[in-house]
Amino acid sequence: MFTLAATGSAVGLGNIWKFPYIAGEHGGGAFVLVYLACLALIGVPIMMAEILIGRRGRQSPINTLQMLGREEDAGSHWGMVGFIGVAAGVIIISFYSVIAGWALAYVARMASGMFSGVTAAGSQSIFSALISDPERLLAWHTIFMVMTTLVVARGVRSGLEQAVKVMMPVLFFLLLLLTAYALNIGEFERSFRFLFQPDFSALSRGGVLIAMGHAFFTLSLGVGAIMVYGSYLPSRVSIAKAALVVALMDTLVALLAGVTIFAIVFANGLPVAAGPGLIFQTLPIAFGQMPGGLFFGTLFFVLLVLAAWTSAISLVEPAVAWLVENRALLRVRAAVVVGVIAWLLGIATVMSFSDWSFRFRFAGEYRNTGVFDLLDILTSGIMLPLGGFSIALFAGWAMSRRSVRDELGGRDGLAFRLWYLAIRYVAPLAVSLVFLHTVGIFGVLG
Ligand code: PFF
Repeated sequence: MFTLAATGSAVGLGNIWKFPYIAGEHGGGAFVLVYLACLALIGVPIMMAEILIGRRGRQSPINTLQMLGREEDAGSHWGMVGFIGVAAGVIIISFYSVIAGWALAYVARMASGMFSGVTAAGSQSIFSALISDPERLLAWHTIFMVMTTLVVARGVRSGLEQAVKVMMPVLFFLLLLLTAYALNIGEFERSFRFLFQPDFSALSRGGVLIAMGHAFFTLSLGVGAIMVYGSYLPSRVSIAKAALVVALMDTLVALLAGVTIFAIVFANGLPVAAGPGLIFQTLPIAFGQMPGGLFFGTLFFVLLVLAAWTSAISLVEPAVAWLVENRALLRVRAAVVVGVIAWLLGIATVMSFSDWSFRFRFAGEYRNTGVFDLLDILTSGIMLPLGGFSIALFAGWAMSRRSVRDELGGRDGLAFRLWYLAIRYVAPLAVSLVFLHTVGIFGVLG
């Protein structure tokens, strides 16, 4: 079923690991508000466009866009958009796998009892020891990349859907358990205010771009992942409903994770802007204190790995599907080729947290973790919004109104007209404005 596969793709490290740390780095409330607005105004309409394109084309994203472009007399160069997505997917999996490796390492650490009764300082030093050990990181990264390549090589769709069916309820249960813990430690209200009371003075130019980019990242847009899964959706099923369900579940997981983590941050006097290590430094403290924490903590990191795994599969699938269709490669070979490229590129991220770390400035703020940050900004900040923008243009302008309406159920009601407005004008304009804002054009103008 589409909804299961797409939820598996959308819910991942982006929700539990990335959202809290970037919200913390960019001042909380205002960032969250921009993020939520981008989800509703840009993310959901573009997700619907990706699904409808995928369902109509039923091939790998590159070929689907080429074929539909020709069919609509708009030219086959639209396949280029698919290429941006394929490239973005391969770059993202290279660092995604390294972070999933941290989660794998934490399964072992949690299970060993290392965190029982741990202090904030203890938790921080356990995390630093891990990320400054490139050999260890490389080993975990390798294991995760092999796990991903194996699934993609076998092309097990039913396995994926079964896994998501079990994973989501357990993940929700554990998040609610953590939220209950957070409610008990006295800083829940402060955490809530931090995330939901907007303070626009705390939001930098770069922060706006990162918030928009994260709306694409968290919904798996701009890569072609959702397009691939769109072909799983039977033609009678409502695309709008499917997109809304996926977006709502995705947002709920992110907000639950965020509110819990900042309660732990405030209760322990930790910095909100701790960066990519945030959840790895905070959650073990919670598990270390709660009854049954060893079990629940281990289970939590197992689920985080699972969630990352079901997302990782969808990151490589567009590239693999294209190799299979165009180069007539066996699926196994195609998966290995993509896996090896991503694994090699991942070494740069492994090294980013120790020997190769460097500092640079981006849109008015400093970044500390070298290549990892560069790849993250390149993909979430540039490639995904650009891919999504092009998809909006494709569905809104290159395809005929008739084709898209047929795919969305055929009726010309209010819902269709709102979507059409969003895809033709709102989403492309919003992405352009955020890009212009990031390079500082509005500041220059006065
Ligand atoms: N949506 C995933 C997450 O939030 O972890 C990451 C992701 C998966 C991004 C697939 C893009 C993609 F195509």
